[in-house]
Amino acid sequence: MGRQRIRAAEGVVFTPPRLVDRMVGKLFAGKAPRPGDRVLDPGCGLGAFIDGVLRWCERRGVRPPRIVGVEIDAGMARACRARYRDLSNVTIVQGDFLLLEGLGAFDYVVGNPPYISIERLPMDLREKYKRLYRTATGRFDTYMLFFEKALRLLNPGGRLVFITPEKYLYVHSARALRRLLAQHHVVEVELVEEEAFGEILAYPAVTVVDKEAPGPTTFILRDGSRTTVYLPRDGSPWLGEAMVRLQPTRLKQYKHRLREICVRISAGVATGRDNIFVVRRDMLPEELRPYAWPTVSGEELARFKAGGPIDYSKLKHVMLVPYDREGRLLGEEEAKPLLEYLARHRGELEKRRAVRIVGKKWYAFHENPPMKTLAKPKILWRDVEKEPRFWWDPEGRIIPRHNVYYLVPRNPSIIPGLLEYLSSREVEMWIEAHAQRAANGYLRLQATLFKNLPIPESLYSKGVKTLSLRQLL
Ligand SMILES: C[S@@+](CC[C@H](N)C(=O)[O-])C[C@H]1O[C@@H](n2cnc3c(N)ncnc32)[C@H](O)[C@@H]1O
Repeated sequence: MGRQRIRAAEGVVFTPPRLVDRMVGKLFAGKAPRPGDRVLDPGCGLGAFIDGVLRWCERRGVRPPRIVGVEIDAGMARACRARYRDLSNVTIVQGDFLLLEGLGAFDYVVGNPPYISIERLPMDLREKYKRLYRTATGRFDTYMLFFEKALRLLNPGGRLVFITPEKYLYVHSARALRRLLAQHHVVEVELVEEEAFGEILAYPAVTVVDKEAPGPTTFILRDGSRTTVYLPRDGSPWLGEAMVRLQPTRLKQYKHRLREICVRISAGVATGRDNIFVVRRDMLPEELRPYAWPTVSGEELARFKAGGPIDYSKLKHVMLVPYDREGRLLGEEEAKPLLEYLARHRGELEKRRAVRIVGKKWYAFHENPPMKTLAKPKILWRDVEKEPRFWWDPEGRIIPRHNVYYLVPRNPSIIPGLLEYLSSREVEMWIEAHAQRAANGYLRLQATLFKNLPIPESLYSKGVKTLSLRQLL
């Protein structure tokens, strides 16, 4: 398994023969190959799909078509070539499928393309792919480009069958791919049972595309049910409302909600004038230090690696907070140095609605910050995202700005487990299905959405544990 994991990081996952046979069945359904036809297997590995095509033909007593396998890994390409050296109809080409030229046209394409996220590609290659492929947008993955290139090489009337992560059906970074696929006839998308690849590819989908005018698409869901739809042409997520039905059943059965294990789930602090209350840390005068808290905006948060703790030393801004740790607004004497600084902007601060209409003091924030809860370890995320991501404030030092949301769990020791859960595929799907959309198709990750997130019993029981005296102090 260890070895398989490492290989998975390079996009190498071998397809089990049972699944190969099912896919080859779809490839030739009502469209048996003729001896002169050409079949392409891009990213052929050791030849799982080449074997599959040969098996299909042998079982039916059909003369096999010509088959071309393309593999980037020299060792695997060599091994594959050796396996088929006695078959004149099988050719193995070694090279990068996405850069190779002169492969010719094909009547069928079948395979399991590599899943390598853009972040793991060298910068120059990333740029090269971006120039060559219109599906290379946002945080793309190599399998998306494999679809594009394969469709280019397919003859009119030809068929393509790929197994890939199902993510492309709804993630924002696959918008261009959905637009491209919807120009052809996506005949079927089957969501394959989750165990097909063990832990490696948890949510696979088999997609069948005929290179012809668009027509109806049959979705086969994991419970075996079928839905036929006409795909949107504009790249918006496929399946829409039906997404809810795709959710793994586990999540639907969870009885508890995230709000039950949290002290607070909320948008960050609204000062009403960040341009005055937020200043650069390296420009901070000594006398204002006692009022300064590290702070992040949504844009700044995106510069940190998601999923882990934030490195406080890299935070560039502080928020000047005229409140004590209990959340009480400081008196004019207590906040003297701060008020001297703020007084320079008094006119501007007095223009705020909270001062004019609600009657707040001129140096108060637009909304009173819940300092007691804010100063606790918490999880942060941005209000609008292409795909959900989360960060961790391990010591409760950060004051999130208004476009950053946060949650403070009752029991801070669950944060690593909670982060892992929030970043799981099942939660991502749930969010994709339930979040409101911004105009550009981005997700709005509001507090109410997270308050209602179902959580597993294990998180609930750890999350409701009463805090120890030490944690409370
Ligand atoms: C998911 S594996 C599938 C292997 C094999 N087709 C199977 O199903 O067992 C993807 C394969 O693509 C190869 N690969 C990765 N990037 C490639 C590229 N740019 N061009 C050609 N092959 C590539 C990997 O080395 C790996 O063998």
